[in-house]
Amino acid sequence: MPQTPNSLHARDIEYTIHPYTNLRAHEEQGPLVITRGDGVYVFDDEGKSYIEGMAGLWCTSLGFSEKRLAEAARKQMEVLPYSQIFSHRSHEPVIELAERVVSMAPASIAKAFFVNSGSEAIDTAIKLIWYYQNGRGKPNKKRIIGRRRAYHGITIAAGHLTGLPYARTGFDLPMSDRFFHVTPPSLYSEGNPGETEEQFTDRLATELDTLIITLGPDTVAAFFAEPVMGAGGVIVPPLSYFPKIQAVLRKHDVLMVSDEVICGFGRTGNWWGAETMGIEPDLMTIAKQLSSAYLPIAGVLMSQSFYEGLADQSAAIGNLGTGYTYSGHPVAAAVALETLRIYDEDEILNHVREVSPHFKRRLDALGGHPLVGEARGVGLIGAVEIVKDKASKTHFDPAIKINAQVAAQAQAHGVILRPVPIDSVGICPPLIITRSEIDMMFDGLEKALDGVATSTLIAA
Ligand SMILES: Cc1ncc(COP(=O)(O)O)c(C=O)c1O
Repeated sequence: MPQTPNSLHARDIEYTIHPYTNLRAHEEQGPLVITRGDGVYVFDDEGKSYIEGMAGLWCTSLGFSEKRLAEAARKQMEVLPYSQIFSHRSHEPVIELAERVVSMAPASIAKAFFVNSGSEAIDTAIKLIWYYQNGRGKPNKKRIIGRRRAYHGITIAAGHLTGLPYARTGFDLPMSDRFFHVTPPSLYSEGNPGETEEQFTDRLATELDTLIITLGPDTVAAFFAEPVMGAGGVIVPPLSYFPKIQAVLRKHDVLMVSDEVICGFGRTGNWWGAETMGIEPDLMTIAKQLSSAYLPIAGVLMSQSFYEGLADQSAAIGNLGTGYTYSGHPVAAAVALETLRIYDEDEILNHVREVSPHFKRRLDALGGHPLVGEARGVGLIGAVEIVKDKASKTHFDPAIKINAQVAAQAQAHGVILRPVPIDSVGICPPLIITRSEIDMMFDGLEKALDGVATSTLIAA
């Protein structure tokens, strides 16, 4: 788009700093300016339409034009636009939302603490875990284990836990030695030659067990995991993985935290990724689809026994000294409640279960494409991993950013997708997507793969 002096493009370059962006490249390239949305589509400032194949950032489950959410926000703004929940204060939307979320959560969950973003949820969970361990007289039990390629956000503590180098490079992290990472459960990229799924998950459980024993079980507090890893490349673990991991955690009295920021609220075909993957969490972090991203709201959910530890410690200290001005914000809570009502009334879970086999068929078919090493997914989340050589799983030179090329071509074909590690393209449409829109999305991706295959062959 030409950058005329007062255009949105020119003003964006002049004043706006974009997350996850090469700022110098942005000065040249400028933004894609999205001006409106309708269903699963968004439109740019030239009127071009795109299927939002990433639901924004894995979040707009109900698409981009759900009037009921706008109405819920308007109504709540008129009645009580803000009220705080520190120091024994409360309001109806937060009470109702806590009750609703806990009632739909796995049986192990009893209480909810609201925050504003996924990263805040992770940071808060880490703080609460440390506070809890101090309260139960285990001041050394503070170490946290995650997985390489995990994405848990980007604030200081969450940035330590995220297992992707970009969370730390250039930011003077790590500044704490409490965080450790084990192997992600990708048989495709981490399996040994000839290794079966069972052997692979046994090996990963042993790796975790050995790490905990080496560190000392009395020093390890918690294990954080996304049921399906999202931003690290959409890694769907073998079904035997989490039960084995959880047995190790139980043996060593280590808390299991299911990071449901992407998987929660139907993404994998059940309300929770924990259900899909056989996890019984002590804590859960939630965000994104909680409000279909129409307003920022997130949370930490916890078991009764974890809550009892927090409550005793707060009584001993006199206060649970953590929380945010906008914790349980009434307008965000009202929008989240309306989102959950729509999920029920429109039977969103049934819809996901109906269309996801078609999504999976189209995804699996891409596995046969000459550029695709692995096509993987569950429910309405997936990715294709692009390789130079399928047999040896060799990747292209990282400098050519092959996955960004595919995403750019898909965008030119009217489909927004996201490059994710390693050389993969993520797919995570709004949950309301129809079968024919799934076809259009995969048609666009297929054309993009064909286009990139042709140009890389020419370049080779
Ligand atoms: C699994 C997971 N946890 C945490 C986060 C951090 O959420 P936020 O970007 O809202 O801070 C994300 C963001 O994508 C995520 O995917």
